[in-house]
Amino acid sequence: MSHDGKVLSGRGIRRSQARNMKVLTVVGARPNFMKAAPIIAAINEHNERILAKFADRRERPAETIRHILVHTGQHYDDLMSGSFFSDLKLPKPDVHLGVGSGSHAVQTAEIMKKFEEVLLGEKPDVVMVVGDVNSTLACALVAAKITFDSAGSRPLIVHVEAGLRSFDRSMPEEINRILTDHVSELLFVTEESGLQNLRNEGVPPDRIHFVGNTMIDSLLAFKEKAEASIILEELGLRTQTGKKGAGNSINRYALLTLHRPTNVDNREAFLNILAGLEELATDCPIVFPVHPRTQRRIKEFGLESHLGTNGTKIKGDARDSGNRRHGIILTDPLGYLDFLCLMKHARLVVTDSGGIQEETTCLGIPCVTVRENTERPVTVESGTEIECINDAIRRQKVRRASGGVPKKCDGQAATRIVDVFIRTYHEKALSRQSLIPQTCA
Ligand code: UD1
Repeated sequence: MSHDGKVLSGRGIRRSQARNMKVLTVVGARPNFMKAAPIIAAINEHNERILAKFADRRERPAETIRHILVHTGQHYDDLMSGSFFSDLKLPKPDVHLGVGSGSHAVQTAEIMKKFEEVLLGEKPDVVMVVGDVNSTLACALVAAKITFDSAGSRPLIVHVEAGLRSFDRSMPEEINRILTDHVSELLFVTEESGLQNLRNEGVPPDRIHFVGNTMIDSLLAFKEKAEASIILEELGLRTQTGKKGAGNSINRYALLTLHRPTNVDNREAFLNILAGLEELATDCPIVFPVHPRTQRRIKEFGLESHLGTNGTKIKGDARDSGNRRHGIILTDPLGYLDFLCLMKHARLVVTDSGGIQEETTCLGIPCVTVRENTERPVTVESGTEIECINDAIRRQKVRRASGGVPKKCDGQAATRIVDVFIRTYHEKALSRQSLIPQTCA
């Protein structure tokens, strides 16, 4: 894609306001898609409002935003990436880096090499990264060191979901979070702990904005649509109660996700968690959509017998369990709407995903986090030892609907984000105009 108009001068600042602001958003891995989708939708809504206001203009109004979507390809399977684009109505990426899997160093380096070329070609005003995956850090680092011209022009770096801290530097995501925050110029925070963490680390307060959670924007936008999913029928979890389909009821089930290397890359740790789930499995079936990393480990460690399947046929059926021990129903990774439907109707969710902790909190579904720590203090119960898991499950099973939704989880986070970066962009452009010598302006 060609780059248009004059290059910016200074840190993310343009010389002239005659050109449209150009925003480049990076996505790479599954948890990025639902965080970026509402922001892209908010940019489109902004453009539609401006276009309607200046409908009589022949040229594209300068106030509209040009948006470019870059997919690094960190996640590449249809089940981990493609299906999310269709479920979330994300536009097709303008650029796909096709990086794929690798060690942390290899994956990060490959993304950096390829992303630098894209940045030099596109010269955007804003680079927006979301979350804490390797793609997030790789692209923020490239943007922090790039210069587009001899005047040192470079883009403004925006980090969405800034400030979260687990205080556990053995987690790759913690390194990604800290480094991304410290090279970013606009930091959008999802919860109050993020504000405090960034202040404690000396990030200038004018860079930090508490806007809420764009992943919850997606949740609220798609909550009703998820009801059309047929996943409950496919898993035998919805029973017809009346004649000719007059009524139906949803069976009791729990939902499980596990993919953290600390939980699944070590056989003992993985077995420990499965042992902690035994009591729950006698009470109701546990639906377990299995991440590719976890699928590999189940086979490698020979854990199929612990999961009640031979591990090759990944789709399960709760009806098979009859009155026996219900066990764990394995499925392939699920699309966004299918998973949301399962989450909404679950009796209990057991997970090691940070995002699912936030989603269940907003849905009022009891959640047990299988981790020693969390960067999201909204979590209610956490731990990894068998007894700890068992106790947490027992307490959560008797818990009723949650005591409320966290602050600013109102579906408007993306709109706040777009408002802030339009305002910041114009403030910087104006202050820059008064600083630029006449010969350069
Ligand atoms: C990444 C993120 C993690 C996030 C998770 C969600 C980092 C450091 N970690 O972890 O924060 O919670 O995504 O899934 O960025 N694989 C496939 N198909 C795919 C993608 C991956 O088979 O489409 C397999 C590959 O064997 C790969 C492994 O999964 O080696 C792990 O993928 P990777 O992107 O390295 O990390 P995740 O564990 O998915």
